[in-house]
Amino acid sequence: METIGIGLIGYGFMGKAHSNAYRQVSAFFPDTPALRMASIAGRNREAVTEAARTFGWEQAYTDYHALLADPTIDVIDISTPGHMHYHQVMESFAAGKHVFCEKPLANSLEEASRMVRAWRASGKIGMINFNYRKVPAVVLAKQIIESGRIGEIRSFRGHYLQDWLRDEHAPMSWRLQKEFAGTGALGDIGAHITDLAHMLVGPITSVTGMLRTAVSQRPIARDSAAMGDVTVDDWTGFLATFENGATGVFEASRIATGRRNHNAFEINGSKGSIAFDLENMNKLEVYFDDDAPDVRGFRTVLVTESVHPYVSRWWPAGHIVGWEHTHVHQVHDLLVGIAEGTNPSPTFADGYRCQAVLDAVERSAISGRWETPMGLPS
Ligand SMILES: NC(=O)c1ccc[n+]([C@@H]2O[C@H](COP(=O)([O-])OP(=O)(O)OC[C@H]3O[C@@H](n4cnc5c(N)ncnc54)[C@H](O)[C@@H]3O)[C@@H](O)[C@H]2O)c1
Repeated sequence: METIGIGLIGYGFMGKAHSNAYRQVSAFFPDTPALRMASIAGRNREAVTEAARTFGWEQAYTDYHALLADPTIDVIDISTPGHMHYHQVMESFAAGKHVFCEKPLANSLEEASRMVRAWRASGKIGMINFNYRKVPAVVLAKQIIESGRIGEIRSFRGHYLQDWLRDEHAPMSWRLQKEFAGTGALGDIGAHITDLAHMLVGPITSVTGMLRTAVSQRPIARDSAAMGDVTVDDWTGFLATFENGATGVFEASRIATGRRNHNAFEINGSKGSIAFDLENMNKLEVYFDDDAPDVRGFRTVLVTESVHPYVSRWWPAGHIVGWEHTHVHQVHDLLVGIAEGTNPSPTFADGYRCQAVLDAVERSAISGRWETPMGLPS
């Protein structure tokens, strides 16, 4: 099999996480096709050169177009802020590359629509980094649901809570400006729980929601006296209905004091329930109605057995995995998908479906009514 050349755009938080995943994946997943960490692109010469050295990339460029022009690069990994996704995705498909794009797919549904059409027309792989789909306990939850063990799914409660914006002195960043981020807590972390709900329960068919900005002005830089306007939400909540008749309650917050990265859900079925919390990500809580009555109750499964998804490639039972492993699993699935010519999930269609829910929540926050997420473009 030929070596798959990777080009990464962005060397921030996600650039670092993805680089680590490319470095680790072959050592733990022997079925991974051969890969080459060819080039990384960023805007600052000194910083991108240092990132290439520390993260393990062969070349560094200050213009990502150099990656698109390189015939040895097969995949463009887009780890930039939301406002860059549209142009970088469209140009990558036009250059004949596969695309691995960070979430949310776009800053608007209109952009996402065009991106999905370009992906389909290209015949290339288009994957979006909803990495929480790749947590072993989350995949186990999916398997339990599909096996019918918790019966018919009736309700989903999901919340993704962080608190890095609780301090009104926390400075501005691209994440707080609509032109760069699209939305705030909604698209940043609400996107993750929306995608998990889609994966585990099925399509969301209607929503009614609220967006709130608790701190509307912030210092433009740390300790600066100059203030800038926050133009996105820092809290959102919405109710949802699912195609299968289930109901959903969602909350995403970056002002939930004390909650650092509390990405959690509970799913109630007619015969059982499942609960997950990312801050305790090696465990899954399950309840089965058909347990013997004298021991019936929620039990906690340590998801580190070799029978559990992805786990056999890591460590012996009880030797836990962490957040970075989700990215390793994601790039493993990406590279295998490229080699086999089958688009791994989550695809650009999944990215669009999530974007359509974000769009409907935004519309509902304005209209005060229930709104329907738009279907995939034809
Ligand atoms: N899947 C996850 O768990 C997760 C977590 C955090 C962020 N994200 C997503 O990842 C993306 C990036 O977020 P981040 O946290 O890494 O941001 P970041 O600010 O840490 O890094 C962004 C990077 O993009 C670069 N960049 C910005 N504009 C550019 C341009 N015009 N050309 C080239 N490079 C440019 C910046 O220099 C920086 O290296 C966003 O879409 C975000 O929503 C995903």
